[in-house]
Amino acid sequence: MKPIKVGLLGLGTVGAGVVRIVEGHQQDLLSQTGASIEIAQILVQDKSKNRGVEVDADKLTEDPRDVIENPEIDIIIEVMGGIELAKSYILEALDRGKHIITANKDLMALHGPEILAKAAEKGCDVLYEASVAGGIPIIRTLVEGFSSDRITKIMGIVNGTTNYILSKMSQEGAAYGDVLKEAQELGYAESDPTSDVEGFDAARKMTILGTLGFHANISLSDVEVRGISQVSKEDINYGKQLGYEVKLLGIAERQDEHISISVQPTMVKKSHPLASVNGVFNAVYVYGEAVGETMFYGPGAGGMPTATSIVADLVAVVRNLKLGINGQRAFAPYKEKKLKTDEQ
Ligand code: NAP
Ligand code: HSE
Repeated sequence: MKPIKVGLLGLGTVGAGVVRIVEGHQQDLLSQTGASIEIAQILVQDKSKNRGVEVDADKLTEDPRDVIENPEIDIIIEVMGGIELAKSYILEALDRGKHIITANKDLMALHGPEILAKAAEKGCDVLYEASVAGGIPIIRTLVEGFSSDRITKIMGIVNGTTNYILSKMSQEGAAYGDVLKEAQELGYAESDPTSDVEGFDAARKMTILGTLGFHANISLSDVEVRGISQVSKEDINYGKQLGYEVKLLGIAERQDEHISISVQPTMVKKSHPLASVNGVFNAVYVYGEAVGETMFYGPGAGGMPTATSIVADLVAVVRNLKLGINGQRAFAPYKEKKLKTDEQ
């Protein structure tokens, strides 16, 4: 059987997880898709780096053309991060008819509509489950699981790094700077952790969730953002004395044609399920008019949990390839309605 060849852009925390799952779960992936999947080429910045994951040296390249222009590769997984370069590689790959899987929330929050439009034009899949809440399949849940409902509220802890920091400050009295360093060493934080601690990463994720959950054209600039860099141990201890935990909460609400989205440190009553979401874990609460209250919980960052979501997208794209239906089931809002936001 001819394998389906995949190109990987990036072999860091998440890319290494993807290699481990694709290599380690070959038989399961074969039974799920009817295809054997091979990671054929991997783009990195520095081939000589020690990576802690086994890959054939001849698969590594520092030349993006070996992946993007490779006619044998059908699917590209982008896990290098950044915005402009990642966008140009993805658009070029789509032009060549390749299907895209990405974990890049920065890119999808800012340029999702352009990328999805190009994918639709070229009949390609663009899936990005890993871009929000790491190992929780929340995008698929909003797009498919709640397709019968009208969602009016999405609320959650969607950044693992800041939840790790706040939990350790609350439970162990740890110092902000020390725990941030730990989160970086564990591979949870973004390459520039300002995105995490100032709430921008969570804002990008809320933009994606709001767009897909409310089927609306929401911009990053619609999100009111405040991070945790100004949260002190005193704030946390004071909250605890009153029966609250401080959490960085993203809240998106829809009332008729009006939406409001924010990310900010919030005092959450200890009896609320979100107060006991600790460490790198994320949780997303979704309220639908028909279903009522639902909540989804799991690891929000880290190589293996994030790679789980990426490889689930890979399974979906390969199944579509086998059925010849690529380009028909992207994660996209069904209409691009501009709802009124707080700013308007
Ligand atoms: P990372 O550990 O920094 O890895 C990035 C990889 O991309 C490295 O292998 C690097 O090559 C390569 N790379 C970066 N810029 C490149 C360039 N210009 N040309 C060629 N290769 C380049 O990052 P990560 O934590 O895996 O995150 C990757 C993406 O997943 C980001 O978009 C991030 O936001 C997203 N994400 C991360 C997590 C997480 O928990 N870490 C969770 C969800 C989503 P070298 O190794 O040679 O330097
Ligand atoms: N830096 C992000 C976080 C990675 O801590 O949640 C997962 O998107």
